[in-house]
Amino acid sequence: MTARDCKPRSSTTSLSPNNEEMKEEMKRVDRNGYYGRDLALVHHLGFAFHAEACAPGILRILEPVRARGGMVLELGCGSGLLTKELLRAGHRVIATDASPSMLELAAELLAAELLDGDVELRHLTLPDDPVPKADAIVAVGHPINYLPDPDALDRALAAIADALRPPGLLAIDICDLEYGRARRGIPGVARVGETWAVIARYEMPSPDRFIRDITTFLREESGSWRRSDEFHENLLVKVDRVPELLARRGVRARIESSFGDETLDEGLYAVIGEKLAGQELSP
Ligand SMILES: C[S@@+](CC[C@H](N)C(=O)[O-])C[C@H]1O[C@@H](n2cnc3c(N)ncnc32)[C@H](O)[C@@H]1O
Repeated sequence: MTARDCKPRSSTTSLSPNNEEMKEEMKRVDRNGYYGRDLALVHHLGFAFHAEACAPGILRILEPVRARGGMVLELGCGSGLLTKELLRAGHRVIATDASPSMLELAAELLAAELLDGDVELRHLTLPDDPVPKADAIVAVGHPINYLPDPDALDRALAAIADALRPPGLLAIDICDLEYGRARRGIPGVARVGETWAVIARYEMPSPDRFIRDITTFLREESGSWRRSDEFHENLLVKVDRVPELLARRGVRARIESSFGDETLDEGLYAVIGEKLAGQELSP
């Protein structure tokens, strides 16, 4: 079942499409420009595999937080694919994203799965929106690489570290410079499903910029195909720098090749960390 097949069971999430106030808020916050309606749906239909592959390892890492009933904050939750697994495992979750279309899909998916009881969906655009305090912070699908420049990325990591309540856990994925190197010379990718197709053309104007010119096609009820285009610019980072940055805010982190048994795309790394009591203040 796809999110679009799912009808919201009720308007219990804060993102009921019938809520005029929320519609206005969604217009206001749609300033990031990534993942409009069509690409959000194509991502949901065709790219669920990454969140699903990461979920078992992340759930293992977060087990102590689940055991004590702590709050998990998810950044860049997209259409709720990891959120769903966190909720199924019994976590309390605040799931956030910069894209209103992604949040609408997440609201539909979680309501259809009857999982909307213990979740709050919120618009949150890094690096400047306030990050709510949490006992664990997770993010998959490299939302951190969507930040526009190194300063924004550093500010986002600092805000994330500061929002962790000790003993807090961190599990996020980030694209290293290697992500771009591994794709140099590759013109792009194309994938096709029954009701959707996506073509992404790659450009790497510098070692830390990974640009995708993305065209999607979605089949409409009439049988015709609707085309949309998005331009994504990802900032690639030297992942070795990340533990150093987090350490300044009291989070001890390590870089791993995966969260658990999954294999991450070449150049994508798991950052796994913890913030211990007494480490809250920056040195
Ligand atoms: C590749 S998608 C991954 C979505 C989801 N986590 C998954 O794995 O299916 C990246 C997500 O990051 C979100 N994102 C991009 N820039 C962001 C920002 N500045 N702050 C918060 N989220 C952002 C996008 O809207 C999108 O949902």
